[in-house]
Amino acid sequence: MGRVDNRVVVVTGGGSGCGREDSILLAKEGAKVIVTDIDHEAAMAVAAEIGGGKAIALQHNISKDEDWVRVMKTGQDAFGPINGVVNNAGVLLMGDFESMPFADWQRTQETNVTGYYLGCKHAILAMKEHGGAIVNMASILSTLGSANYFAYAASKAAVASLTGSVVAHCKQAGYKIRCNAIQPDGILTPMVLKQMNLPRDTDLKMIKDSPMGYRFCYPHEVANLVLFLISDEAASISNARISIDNGNYALSEF
Ligand SMILES: NC(=O)c1ccc[n+]([C@@H]2O[C@H](COP(=O)([O-])OP(=O)(O)OC[C@H]3O[C@@H](n4cnc5c(N)ncnc54)[C@H](O)[C@@H]3O)[C@@H](O)[C@H]2O)c1
Repeated sequence: MGRVDNRVVVVTGGGSGCGREDSILLAKEGAKVIVTDIDHEAAMAVAAEIGGGKAIALQHNISKDEDWVRVMKTGQDAFGPINGVVNNAGVLLMGDFESMPFADWQRTQETNVTGYYLGCKHAILAMKEHGGAIVNMASILSTLGSANYFAYAASKAAVASLTGSVVAHCKQAGYKIRCNAIQPDGILTPMVLKQMNLPRDTDLKMIKDSPMGYRFCYPHEVANLVLFLISDEAASISNARISIDNGNYALSEF
């Protein structure tokens, strides 16, 4: 018996990092996974790695409404009614208030805010009759300001807000849909490796935690939490924001 046997779950950004690990673990625990990514080749590689008819890969830009309509229809046609959506795809663009090009601000909000609004909307439309679970990838920056990642911080604050509003809407409408947010930081994925100027195929075992006490986390640890939140083990958990950051933001000097 798997922990999510026969669930049908959409994972956006499933071609890399956390989304790749989420897709692999959900399939291992019995789910049928619709692996989507703007990078179709990356999504296809993950679906092929899962194999056994347990996954399909779809090209998907999360900020396009028509892409969501196609993804949800194709996914349902392949595996049946959708039970879970992991809104995981995202972009992290660096820049401060004075230097960030307006186009970078717009791309951040289009992907991380509009993409998550559409992900929540289409998850609700697909699951309102039979129920299900949504997991939104927020960030530790959902609740903090940031000098060099201010656009990303603003977008992830919106993801946390959308999570609460999904729960409020589903409660008002009487839908049995749970929605939770994960607030990670320092997960060793290609997104973070890029910020560290390291190649995406870096051997993660070679990366040491900082001597200042900052400890990294691994994408399979995020996947464990995603699996739990999608499964019935979390049947009473909705509207939670769960940090996964090794406690790096605890104030040990106080
Ligand atoms: N890694 C961390 O430390 C960290 C911290 C906080 C939050 N997060 C969040 O976790 C999620 C996963 O991040 P990751 O670290 O695995 O990053 P990643 O860069 O390894 O993977 C992100 C994936 O999203 C895809 N993507 C980007 N734009 C897209 C779009 N418009 N439509 C569809 N797919 C798109 C990319 O192609 C990529 O495959 C993101 O939402 C990120 O903001 C990560």
